[in-house]
Amino acid sequence: MEKHNLIFLTLLFFLPCSLSFVPIDNYLINCGSHNNASLFNRVFMSDSTNAGLNFFSSDDSIALMNKNPSPNLLTLYQSARVFVTTGRYRFNMKKNGTHLIRFHFFPFKDQGFDLKSAKFSVFVNGISILSEFKPPGEAMIKEFILKIESNLLEILFRPFDSGFGFVNAVEVFTAPEDFVIDYGTRLVGPSGMEEYKNISSQVLETILRINVGGVKITPFNDTLWRTWIPDEDYLVFKEAAKHAVSTHTPDYEKGGATPEIAPENVYMTAQQMNRENTSLASRFNITWKFPVASEGVPHLIRLHFCDIVSTSLNLLYFDVYINGYIAYKDLDLSSLTFHTLASPVYVDFVANSDNSGVIEISVGPSELSSSIRINAILNGAELMKIVNDVDNTKIVHRRKHLWVLIGSVIGGIVVLFLVLTVVLLATKCRKKRPKETTVGSVGWTPLRMFGGSSLSRTSEHGSYGYLGMKIPFADIQSATNNFDRNLIIGSGGFGMVYKGVLGDNVKVAVKRGMPGSRQGLPEFHSEITILSKIRHRHLVSLVGFCEENSEMILVYEYVERGPLKKHLYGSSRQPPLTWKQRLEVCIGAARGLHYLHTGFAQGIIHRDIKSTNILVDEDYVAKVADFGLSRSGPCINETHVSTGVKGSFGYLDPEYYRRQQLTDKSDVYSFGVVLFEVLCGRPAVDPQLTREQVNLAEWAIEWLQKGMLDHIVDPHIIDEIKPRSLKKFGETAEKCLAEYGVDRPTMGDVLWNLEYALQLQESEQQRVIRDDSGGSEADYETTRTIHENSSSRRIERDYDNDCSDVSTSQVFSQLMNNNGR
Ligand SMILES: *[C@@H]1O[C@H](CO)[C@@H](O)[C@H](O)[C@H]1NC(C)=O
Ligand SMILES: *[C@@H]1O[C@H](CO)[C@@H](O)[C@H](O)[C@H]1NC(C)=O
Ligand SMILES: *[C@@H]1O[C@H](CO)[C@@H](O)[C@H](O)[C@H]1NC(C)=O
Ligand SMILES: *[C@@H]1O[C@H](CO)[C@@H](O)[C@H](O)[C@H]1NC(C)=O
Ligand SMILES: *[C@@H]1O[C@H](CO)[C@@H](O)[C@H](O)[C@H]1NC(C)=O
Ligand SMILES: *[C@@H]1O[C@H](CO)[C@@H](O)[C@H](O)[C@H]1NC(C)=O
Repeated sequence: MEKHNLIFLTLLFFLPCSLSFVPIDNYLINCGSHNNASLFNRVFMSDSTNAGLNFFSSDDSIALMNKNPSPNLLTLYQSARVFVTTGRYRFNMKKNGTHLIRFHFFPFKDQGFDLKSAKFSVFVNGISILSEFKPPGEAMIKEFILKIESNLLEILFRPFDSGFGFVNAVEVFTAPEDFVIDYGTRLVGPSGMEEYKNISSQVLETILRINVGGVKITPFNDTLWRTWIPDEDYLVFKEAAKHAVSTHTPDYEKGGATPEIAPENVYMTAQQMNRENTSLASRFNITWKFPVASEGVPHLIRLHFCDIVSTSLNLLYFDVYINGYIAYKDLDLSSLTFHTLASPVYVDFVANSDNSGVIEISVGPSELSSSIRINAILNGAELMKIVNDVDNTKIVHRRKHLWVLIGSVIGGIVVLFLVLTVVLLATKCRKKRPKETTVGSVGWTPLRMFGGSSLSRTSEHGSYGYLGMKIPFADIQSATNNFDRNLIIGSGGFGMVYKGVLGDNVKVAVKRGMPGSRQGLPEFHSEITILSKIRHRHLVSLVGFCEENSEMILVYEYVERGPLKKHLYGSSRQPPLTWKQRLEVCIGAARGLHYLHTGFAQGIIHRDIKSTNILVDEDYVAKVADFGLSRSGPCINETHVSTGVKGSFGYLDPEYYRRQQLTDKSDVYSFGVVLFEVLCGRPAVDPQLTREQVNLAEWAIEWLQKGMLDHIVDPHIIDEIKPRSLKKFGETAEKCLAEYGVDRPTMGDVLWNLEYALQLQESEQQRVIRDDSGGSEADYETTRTIHENSSSRRIERDYDNDCSDVSTSQVFSQLMNNNGR
């Protein structure tokens, strides 16, 4: 708050009509000169005449002047300070945190020094950042991004090998807030996707800044006085790429990139797939090879995106590869930018350079993109070396202090521990009671999570709303063992899911947003508002959330036996489920989905139904997960929600895919695929099979229509499954997979039919059953008669346990009024 106010005030007083960034620490030094120098609207102060400003401690350094500067040479480069012995600049720092440090080197000759022959190392507060550096013949800027947590910054130049050091100009300034964020950086390499921790504690050296598809951006045009260069020289196959240029200024949104992360110009240009050249294949990658630091060195790769090529949301889906490894699959900028077109975002990756010192970046169309909308873009790229050089002499020098240091660290830890214990005890005592009242306000959930026992519907403090579900970040850290990688149970575009245990031994699944996928705070809140209202036996419920430290974390109940998929097939396969168990899981999931579709004024469409999103608990009760990012269903007078394809390959409703229109029937389609997965015990898509078999939906329908569905039933259940149950189940799945949404049953219908299939399995001696080979209307009638007593009571019981906005009778009557399809 304070910082922001400070920035705001500074802006108000000094720059009334400009919104440019004003760093809190801002030292610009014109080295070796008696004059201040102005460059790109910034004044670099003389280090000789401003010594009183407390940034320079004089050593045996020498000020040099370039006596014969070329006419266009910047004044900044007409002087230099030379260090024949170790010399230093010292700066008083006002702000802890990430800073940018730049050194300008422009070699010339004066007083017998040829600056080209300089050889030196540079240290920042004892950390070696430039080691045995020899400047090239021309002007060069070295930029470092690092955390400074000290009131004093010392930059030390140490000559090397009887050489000397020099510098023409130094910049030290505070980075904008959240310039380097510690979470969600993706480590890309042969071991799959992992999170790279603690990037802000690393020293980063900028190697390349690329304005992809654009022109050079000079410090004058950049918000942080950076230089961005065009990408053409790095394209592996120039014909693959085509410039995209936007005339509209991008729409920076909270939670995405800021103008300081990269200026408008970066986001207003891009390279996209050149699909006009008919001699190219229909799907291909655009690939760049960037020369970076020597072999095998880790780099931070920041990729900038802004969808300036699409005419509307959710048309663009592409994959990002780094060094040939998948770095981001099915990147959907529309969802990363919380559904604003042409809104800038960036994603951070860490990858190693290869043996020849190259990092290769590719973008290519995703499997999800339909053939008319194949495209992939990149707007900008930054490559920064992660510097972890340790200078040996420095270690020797440090060793003297090591024991003192260890002593004080241990002492500090003991003291810290004592203080923490006291603080924790104090807060626990203080917080316990208020928390319970807040908790009571939102009703049932938080009671469960903080150890309450009963499910309370009272909401006398209703105005607290979902805020009572807030969980302190520290609690989440301790629940997940500080986001221990070994506790990761899932990952996706949004980030990682960790298993955790909150106080009171409540097991939870912690979903932590990636920086790029951070949604706007308002949207995050509205989502929590909706999620907090959803309580259903067959839906995974939200336990709480956290938005501290610009984190966006959702905490869900932990479902013991994990995804249904694991119980059907695959390498980590659990003991196979019986046919009855499978039917019960399908029925449970159908009930959860039916509730999502009908239980709310607007209805909620899941959008990503698949066997990994249906979880089973210890009693094999199904719980539908991951409807968090779902969108609300149709508004009163619309029949669909126009939105983009979110969903998984193999489960995607062909109609939704074609028309980009979302209805609850899209969920029905995906559910039909799940039904066949359950029946056949194989994945929705299995690329290793023959062409006809790859896609489960097509393959199963083909067998079903041949009347030979029993040929493809999972061998584990073939002996137990009753033919009539199989027939009913197969027909239900087939109807779900109808080409057009209008021809598909509602989830309510699916539910009835599955219950029927279970009934057929359990008791063949049903008296009411006619030969059910007839029309579907008759089926539903029959089903209804049979189930009037048993299953409607079951439904009633389910809804009884929920505290939803919808009363039991309302939902029930909706079910009953559901006249076929
Ligand atoms: C250089 O700038 C500083 C700070 O603005 C100022 O105090 C100083 O007088 C200037 N020196 C010269 C030589 O102009
Ligand atoms: C920065 O951190 C250091 C060490 O933690 C501390 O001594 C110093 O007071 C901090 N400075 C500011 C401005 O917060
Ligand atoms: C991050 O790095 C800093 C400095 O190296 C270290 O003190 C800190 O413990 C690290 N944090 C984590 C979570 O690894
Ligand atoms: C940078 O700013 C100058 C001056 O306003 C302008 O002429 C130039 O076109 C700008 N360059 C870019 C890349 O926008
Ligand atoms: C199309 O690509 C081929 C290489 O595959 C290249 O030789 C040709 O010049 C390209 N044509 C155009 C119009 O870009
Ligand atoms: C794009 O490159 C990646 C990595 O090299 C590769 O796996 C993928 O098949 C390529 N995609 C296309 C369409 O060529």
